[in-house]
Amino acid sequence: MYSSDPKVLAGSNTTEGRSTPAASAAPGLRRSLDRAAQIATYREVPRIRRVVSSSTYTPRAEFLAFSPPLIGEEEIDEVVDTLRSDWLTTGPKTRRFEQDFARYVGANDALALNSCTAGLHTALAALGIGPGDEVITTPMTFAATVNVIEHVGARPVLVDVESDTLNIDPAAIEQAISPRTRAIVAVHYSGHPADLDAIEELARENDLFVIEDAAHALPARYKDRIIGAGRNPTAFSFYATKNLTTGEGGMLTGSDEFLERARPFSLHGMTRDALSRYAKGGSWRYEILSPGFKYNMTDIQAAMGLCQLRKLECFDARRREIVEMYHDAFAGEDALELPVERHDVRHAWHLYVLRLRTDALRIGRDEFIDEMTARNIGTSVHFIPVHLHPYYRDRYGYDEQDFPVAVGNFERMLSLPLNPRLTSSDVGDVIEAVLDIVRSYRR
Ligand SMILES: Cc1ncc(COP(=O)(O)O)c(C=O)c1O
Repeated sequence: MYSSDPKVLAGSNTTEGRSTPAASAAPGLRRSLDRAAQIATYREVPRIRRVVSSSTYTPRAEFLAFSPPLIGEEEIDEVVDTLRSDWLTTGPKTRRFEQDFARYVGANDALALNSCTAGLHTALAALGIGPGDEVITTPMTFAATVNVIEHVGARPVLVDVESDTLNIDPAAIEQAISPRTRAIVAVHYSGHPADLDAIEELARENDLFVIEDAAHALPARYKDRIIGAGRNPTAFSFYATKNLTTGEGGMLTGSDEFLERARPFSLHGMTRDALSRYAKGGSWRYEILSPGFKYNMTDIQAAMGLCQLRKLECFDARRREIVEMYHDAFAGEDALELPVERHDVRHAWHLYVLRLRTDALRIGRDEFIDEMTARNIGTSVHFIPVHLHPYYRDRYGYDEQDFPVAVGNFERMLSLPLNPRLTSSDVGDVIEAVLDIVRSYRR
């Protein structure tokens, strides 16, 4: 079902010419898609924009949650199998998940952890970044990306983002590099890869590490590179809302030397994990090589991950179909700015971030969200720029307008539901709600 063949991931940016996931799904996935979403066909929403008038608009009866997980019987059976086994924590399933994940993204190996945050923290620590060092990153991210820089005692240096992708702006990075800079943390915001060539060129010129926060970017491609296949330490998230979930969880990829250093950091700095100590023939002896963390993944989580990974290609295809439906419906609506996919990347479409052209509307983003809620549609906002949070604002004395692109876009953005559980009728409800609000409040 999934593929280690880069050509599969490096393939077409559209689903044209491919069978729909519904058609190509394995029986297990077919069942879970059907059970969760009662999908008869993905193509039931007309590809032309619906004409909805406020007078005839009726909100859906049930609240549409923003991003519930899509868990099938396979995950349940695999977790139960683990619970019935004698091994619950990091063991054979975690190792298999690491190997399958590495094969999927085209890496040599991978390190399974209990979160992406753990992956980012482990990466910084394993690279020896600490007090006195500066790490450049983006304000347009979840606080975890920046918190871990504080955890190792380094100073986060925020720089503004590009206005189309909302990814970290290489020109702004260049301005912020100082003799104390050790690393750049590039977040692939919403699943759209950051401009890695430009970022890596700056890193080479200034002898810096590049760490990729790929919490949203599974599966994604930058030019001919699959995110996770390269030498940069790269951290993925398997949090409940992510493109692949283990409830909580994460994965770290990078060069062989990096992973060799990172692995003991993720488990107390021990020379031997529990499986190799408690298995027959294992030795009880171990040594602590560094004061490491307790960040290991359990076999219960890995059991879910193994099943979700087999479904990832179907999930991804379905996300792209939903994005096409949103694009088709909203294109030409001048109050709405649609998310972009640059020609040389493959977006993972973790989020569909709609930006309002507030000069064309009589309401702002917050009221727009209230109107969506009143229409029984769950939405979210990604993200409150990090420098607006009291801790960072006060510690580093940031002014709200220090990063005008991030702040200007934050004030007019909302994320629409985008997940493989959505039926086409759900997608139609989201579209109708958005267009109804636009029509009701057009200036
Ligand atoms: C951009 C980004 N980085 C890091 C994280 C942290 O991921 P986790 O919850 O797996 O630690 C998140 C979580 O949502 C995120 O959105």
